[in-house]
Amino acid sequence: MRDDIERILFHEQTIFSRLDELARDITEYYRDKELTVLAVLNGSLIFAADLLRRVPLPLKLDCLSVASYHGGTESCGVVTFDQVSMPDIDGRHILILDDILDSGRTLQAIEGKLREHGAPLSVRVCVLLRKLKQRAAELEAHHVGFDIGDEFVVGYGLDYQERYRNLPFVGVLDAAALSRGGGAERG
Ligand code: IMP
Ligand code: MG
Repeated sequence: MRDDIERILFHEQTIFSRLDELARDITEYYRDKELTVLAVLNGSLIFAADLLRRVPLPLKLDCLSVASYHGGTESCGVVTFDQVSMPDIDGRHILILDDILDSGRTLQAIEGKLREHGAPLSVRVCVLLRKLKQRAAELEAHHVGFDIGDEFVVGYGLDYQERYRNLPFVGVLDAAALSRGGGAERG
């Protein structure tokens, strides 16, 4: 599996140090607010587990399951929600957690869906990674772990065709591994 990694961007210890800082900011911002965290599956699973254990607030946690890729490495703008019912967000401050902000389409669709289905007091976004690029959708992330270039990365929850999520680090996937793929992707 590691042979498919061209270059490691963030080792586990680097991620953990950054999570300490992110958790401090989030704790500070949401102190005395009714916070519900919405983790976007599957990509934010590992990030959410490590981050939220560093946030000593009486928050609620819910998950959203979405699919935004339909093959390849670019989201196509069509975001499918697997949820039968949406989480109860009325009168609560919502923090959406996702693995990466790329085109912004997925998070924009999620934000729209939330506002359509309820009356949250606020909706903010926290991502582990943000690609520095021109985005298809206007979307601001309020808490960002790391900014990266416009490269396809895997590990620490991020996948390529559902593989590599369990790597403890974030790394750039080798071009040869990328060209071997095909099929559907989710979150
Ligand atoms: P967006 O809608 O283009 O912002 O894409 C968001 C979703 O695409 C993320 O939640 C990831 O699941 C996936 N994604 C975007 N870039 C990457 C990447 O470099 N590696 C792995 N997954 C990615
Ligand atoms: Mg994915």
